[in-house]
Amino acid sequence: MERAIRKVAVIGAGSMGSGIAAQFANGGVPVLLLDIAGPDGDRSAPARAGVERQVKAQGFMDPSAAALVEVGCIEDDLAAVADADWIVEAVVEDLSVKRRLFARLDAVRKPGAVVSSNTSTIPLAQLTEGASEAFCRDFVITHFFNPPRHMRLMELVAGPGTAAETVALVREAAETVLGKTVVDCRDTPAFIANRLGCHWMSVAAIEALRHGLMVEQADAVAGAPFGVPRTGIFGLLDLVGIDLVPLVWGSLLGTLPAGDAHHRHDLTAEPLIRRLIAEGRIGRKAKGGFYRLAPGSKAREALDLASGEYRPQAEATANRDLAALIRQEDAAGRYAWAVLSNSIAYTAAVAGEIADDVAAIDTAMRLGYGWAEGPFALADRVGCAAIADRLAAEGREVPPLLATAAAEGGFYRRTATGRETRSSTGAWTPVRHPPGVLDLAEVKERGPRFAGNGSASVWDLGDGVACLEFHTKMNAIDQGILAMVADAAERVPAEFRALVLYNDNPRAFSAGANLGYFVERLKAEDFAALERFVEQGQAAFRALKHAAIPVIGAPAGLAVGGGCEVLLHCDAIQAHAETYIGLVELKVGIVPGWRGTAELLLRWGRRTDRPAGPEGTAQATFGTIAGARITGSALEARALGYLRPEDGITMGRDRLLGDAKAKALALAEGYRPPGVGSVTLPGPAAREALQAIVRGWRQDGRASPHDELVAGWLAGVCCGGADAGPRTPVDEDTLAALEREALSALIREPATRARIRHMLDTGKPLRN
Ligand code: NAI
Repeated sequence: MERAIRKVAVIGAGSMGSGIAAQFANGGVPVLLLDIAGPDGDRSAPARAGVERQVKAQGFMDPSAAALVEVGCIEDDLAAVADADWIVEAVVEDLSVKRRLFARLDAVRKPGAVVSSNTSTIPLAQLTEGASEAFCRDFVITHFFNPPRHMRLMELVAGPGTAAETVALVREAAETVLGKTVVDCRDTPAFIANRLGCHWMSVAAIEALRHGLMVEQADAVAGAPFGVPRTGIFGLLDLVGIDLVPLVWGSLLGTLPAGDAHHRHDLTAEPLIRRLIAEGRIGRKAKGGFYRLAPGSKAREALDLASGEYRPQAEATANRDLAALIRQEDAAGRYAWAVLSNSIAYTAAVAGEIADDVAAIDTAMRLGYGWAEGPFALADRVGCAAIADRLAAEGREVPPLLATAAAEGGFYRRTATGRETRSSTGAWTPVRHPPGVLDLAEVKERGPRFAGNGSASVWDLGDGVACLEFHTKMNAIDQGILAMVADAAERVPAEFRALVLYNDNPRAFSAGANLGYFVERLKAEDFAALERFVEQGQAAFRALKHAAIPVIGAPAGLAVGGGCEVLLHCDAIQAHAETYIGLVELKVGIVPGWRGTAELLLRWGRRTDRPAGPEGTAQATFGTIAGARITGSALEARALGYLRPEDGITMGRDRLLGDAKAKALALAEGYRPPGVGSVTLPGPAAREALQAIVRGWRQDGRASPHDELVAGWLAGVCCGGADAGPRTPVDEDTLAALEREALSALIREPATRARIRHMLDTGKPLRN
């Protein structure tokens, strides 16, 4: 029988094991989770505590996924792992504990079941020493990052005895079931991300001390200009916990040879680090480290690195142009150069030892440490030749890989056939993707753009499928996007068989209508302009729905307000698992007015899992919109009706566009556009019942008078207007007209204007 991952066992229910188990459950795979035995009478307690922690920490994408995790204890239930196709070990980082466990697992696992270790530091060679040949064939290291739901990187290490098919099986399941980006690593200490990440952190902290920078200055320099999260270096140490320095860095130093550059920047030996640990000032979990809130107040303080005392936090900025910053003749410039030169030189020196190509290293640092680019892409941005020349001028060693890149045009290049990167020994090699991965950036590089303006573009994905890409800030929908939606609905069908709505924005598919425009027009009391904006959106989304070819929405991240409405007009959705979707218009004092209310009414009208009759349709739709909730995942969006049962969910962000294209092609066969939809709604008599719901919320303090007013207008749309009734279905265009009427009234309300302003300024709803 073909090997596949249908059932999994995870041993160790600590932070990592329970998180990995939850992610398998999120991907729909049943899991057996075992830990040490609890007290008699409740021997599964430690494993169950792990599941409960994940429920609390939202490791599960939907609380219902927890039902896929069965708990037990190693002592009593180890034989049950015989069902598992993949056994993940995530117990304490102790070689003898892990080895003893492997011997017991080898005796009970079914033939061919994969065993993997989540070790962060122990080499595979040591883990498998003395193990059976069969065990070695099925064994790999799968190094996940914390938290396993959100960290996309999984480092994969195979041994000399590991079977190729084991590696292929694990890779495929990690990518498709767990949604991970897999980076192949060699069996070297701390693999790729932590080896380089810990070195970078040591260099950035120690050089800040050597150059006499303030912590805020160091964080400003080592953060944004490097494309590193804005915690910079000291903020990051506070976040991970300074107490981890002797453990993590100490163990790494213990395994690396004496000549390794880690020993030249030894964080464990820094007197300040030792002092902070001794005094319990270990970061956020101890209410203070390099930063803290002043005792008894909310004032932010920072540590004075010279005296070790706190003082008020200062503002600090740095030149974001790193190439210019390293040439600055001041402490910030010299510090930036020290961090950059040491990091790039070390990364280039060890690349051949730790990875096949430089792209693997960049991917590991992007996904493991949140860098915008990896170190090699960063070197390209600054200029490899400039870095190599300055190192040489300072009498420092230039690693051969860096010298090659400096002499021959960097670490990446574009050729007629696609992108190339350097192998870790320096030769050009194509950038390869796993099968099924389609990269929009590469599609765009190949060009040409089929259509486009400053806000949105249409690209050719090949095989007759087009992609409509939004590209405004947070993909807020403006007139440009609406114009391109309308244009695409009209012109794309002449040249293509299907259209996919997709973009690469890491945070938002679309954050909804451009509120800046609302604020500007409301200030001028130019209500007519806003009414035209509403009409333009309605016309564009209507055209999209009735286009001659199928339209597939492929959201990831936020898809709210107008961003949700556009998806409601698609024939099908292929959503990334981490999609946060919702009609949240009530929070800004309006109702969904780009036909989103209408589409949701049509959907609830077709569903059977709602209260009966036209009242039930109105009530379910009203409840969803009045709740104004953003779902915590795509799984949850199914329950709320934003996704239909037949809509797809893709776990891996890299695979979303490829999956959406496949869905588009499947739908294109024999496609017929939908006719004008209609739904039976209860009519005006039912409006009062819906408003009573919000009145109840107001009495509980959950809704304000303005909420009640907005809800009244929403109830009017949901009940279908004056002519609706059990025998008179209401069509989508009539519902759209009701939406427009509600919006025209609501935008004239000062309380609505205050809400929109507040949301734009603070990103939070105003309760007025
Ligand atoms: P943890 O301390 O949260 O959990 C370890 C679990 O092992 C506990 O539930 C404990 O009850 C169990 N355990 C203790 N002694 C045992 C024994 N003798 N036999 C079987 N189970 C035993 O640790 P965490 O953080 O979940 O780490 C687990 C593994 O994952 C370690 O190998 C660690 O190096 C690795 N890792 C940790 C990461 C992290 O950020 N915490 C990241 C990547 C890997």
